Amino acid sequence: MSAETKVKTIHDFHAVAQAGKKLAVLTAYDALFARLLAPHVDALLVGDSVHQVLGGNESTLGATLDQMIYHGKAVRKGAPDTVVVIDMPFLSYQVSIPEAIRNAGRVMAETGATAVKLEGGRPMVATIKALVEVGIPVMAHLGLTPQSVHQLGGYRVQGREHNVAERLLAEASLIEDAGAFAMVLELVPRALAKKVTEKLSIPTIGIGAGPDCDGQVLVLHDMLGLNTAFKPKFLKHYAALAGEVEKAAATFASEVREGKYPGAEQSFE
Ligand code: KIV
Repeated sequence: MSAETKVKTIHDFHAVAQAGKKLAVLTAYDALFARLLAPHVDALLVGDSVHQVLGGNESTLGATLDQMIYHGKAVRKGAPDTVVVIDMPFLSYQVSIPEAIRNAGRVMAETGATAVKLEGGRPMVATIKALVEVGIPVMAHLGLTPQSVHQLGGYRVQGREHNVAERLLAEASLIEDAGAFAMVLELVPRALAKKVTEKLSIPTIGIGAGPDCDGQVLVLHDMLGLNTAFKPKFLKHYAALAGEVEKAAATFASEVREGKYPGAEQSFE
């Protein structure tokens, strides 16, 4: 599977990992990028990072369910045959299990997504179990969980201390037992991510968690080099689009001012 054979379901997603192949996941927030990315990745994540990346906000906390549904619908339109996972935003699943089911159900029904993602360990076990029982696949998210950034004291590596690492390892197993189909590990030391990956039978998808996870995810706009101000250690720029965008905008503006655009070939008779 992967590259040669399109990953369309969470079963295909598992098959890639079981075959010992790495899973490649990118975020997407719109139909155009989803269409460009879909042939190359194993899943698209409509992350609540949209609230930071496109919304210009400091954290993901203000993302809303309607916002996630709007972007989820767009991504599904652009990638009709791809595994699309949509982030459940802050407070859409933590208040009660019935609310979590109703909100995750809305995401699934209104967007056509394949699965939802939610953050957290032990406190989320019952919620994950309940969602899976009603037929909603769940991707879990441990380590640096951005919706808890204030509790965690910033966007920093999690699990360097022995007790925190042990807790994460234990929570990962509980989440697997609850029925999550995959797990994002964000900003954790490489050795801990390796331990979790070896312990679990579901795939781990790392971001800032080293090379031993079953797959990797990056925020699209970050890996495209669109935000030059954001360059954490784990991030690799696969393009330098900020410069390209600035160059195109500057050339357009000067051509307009010089009367060079539009020319005869861009004008109607
Ligand atoms: O919101 C997001 O984009 C994410 C990824 C960083 C994993 O959760």
